[in-house]
Amino acid sequence: MKDKTVFICQSCGAHSPKWMGRCHACGEWNTLVEEVEDEAPSGGISYAPTEPVLYKDIQDIPRQRLTVGIEDFNKVLGGGLVSGSLVLVGGEPGIGKSTLLLQVARDMAAGEATVLYVSGEESLEQIKLRGDRLGVRDGRLFLLAETNLERILAQAERLAPNILIVDSIQTVFSAKMTSGPGTISQVREAANQIFRYAKNRQVPTFLVGHITKDGTLAGPKSLEHIVDVVLLFEGERDHSHRVLRAMKNRFGPVSELAVFEMTAAGLQPILNPSAFFLRERPREEVGSAVVCTVKGTRPLLAEIQALVSSTLFTGNPRRMTIGLDHYRTAMLLALVEKKAGYSFAGEDIYLNVAGGISIDEPAVDLGVVMAVVSSLKNVPLPQDMAFFGEVGLSGEIRSVNQPLVRIKEAHSLGFGTVLLPAGNLAALDKNDLPAIQCVGAKTVRQALDHIF
Ligand code: TYD
Ligand code: MG
Repeated sequence: MKDKTVFICQSCGAHSPKWMGRCHACGEWNTLVEEVEDEAPSGGISYAPTEPVLYKDIQDIPRQRLTVGIEDFNKVLGGGLVSGSLVLVGGEPGIGKSTLLLQVARDMAAGEATVLYVSGEESLEQIKLRGDRLGVRDGRLFLLAETNLERILAQAERLAPNILIVDSIQTVFSAKMTSGPGTISQVREAANQIFRYAKNRQVPTFLVGHITKDGTLAGPKSLEHIVDVVLLFEGERDHSHRVLRAMKNRFGPVSELAVFEMTAAGLQPILNPSAFFLRERPREEVGSAVVCTVKGTRPLLAEIQALVSSTLFTGNPRRMTIGLDHYRTAMLLALVEKKAGYSFAGEDIYLNVAGGISIDEPAVDLGVVMAVVSSLKNVPLPQDMAFFGEVGLSGEIRSVNQPLVRIKEAHSLGFGTVLLPAGNLAALDKNDLPAIQCVGAKTVRQALDHIF
């Protein structure tokens, strides 16, 4: 059969018979690339006749889990690495994916496992240079600089490692396909074949995937449904901390996250993220409020900073937020004006979460309100007070989940008072509370009155 060419969107994978400037499926511009449509690229599944099986007759597969060295990494994986699972680690270039996985390789090799680390991006010497910084010692850690999929799999078959790492999936290509390396067909084919290898040989496998700046896995968005686990490795380039979290996990919850600091000797887990993010908090500063948020099951204290200053030029005052939801913040500002009688007319308002983290939890609402009013009035909030609570449109403060976890975190970091939703406080068993003063508020006005 003659090879047929099609145009495939490199962003979403949609096919089109002819070139178009804009993908009809996802609306991205200039993403269609001509590719040769290979005859059903190996596909993987052979359709042997199957029969329906009664649910109770299906056997449990004992899910064996390996532990990777870093404790928090295990948690993100849902309690360790399931054998035969395919894990995609996505992140922007330079964020530290190779570093993280080389550390995993180091720890696993130190624990008697045979590890195969395949790199299509760096030479063996470059990897060794990094390995030296990370303190890689002797152990059965094998490196392979290769991009040819068939050769990679042949080497994996030969070596039979306990864990396989492919860095990155975008560099791997199958010689059986005519499309160029990095195209979506190639990436998908490589992922499919590696998936089959992982399942057949029960070898847990990590794939590194580069993400474009808008947050999508470059090209292989379509990988997300092939692999078992999708982890995202994120951070701001000019900050040293990195956050690893699960976006999809067939073997566990997706709520856990791990925080790392990039140091001269690689990624160090941050065991106390709250202390880390508050470490540079100024004392008695106006416009600064500490909020108790929860990410996954883990509490995190963060500092919200607000700056309210008169608009210099007539015209629309500025409203800028970094790390907070812009629309939600606008709503809160409108609400404070309407319900608490403050006016932001002619004021520019800037809001920021210190340390470059972003928070998307409504439980920070109360802290945002407090920070803004503190800056407007030029009065600092009590230094040892922390806040949490969702603010509703009529100015009521609504209960949020896991109040006790939040209170305990504030207590353990030495805060003396927590201002929280009255509903949460009423529902808590006083015997569970740590030695910290808890002040419940029903409305924004009550909360503001308590302080100002
Ligand atoms: P890298 O793992 O190469 O990123 P990725 O694979 O996601 O593209 O890490 C890139 C950055 O990490 C690089 O700018 C250097 C920095 N780095 C450190 O700060 N300390 C270290 O010990 C290592 C190995 C890297
Ligand atoms: Mg890399």
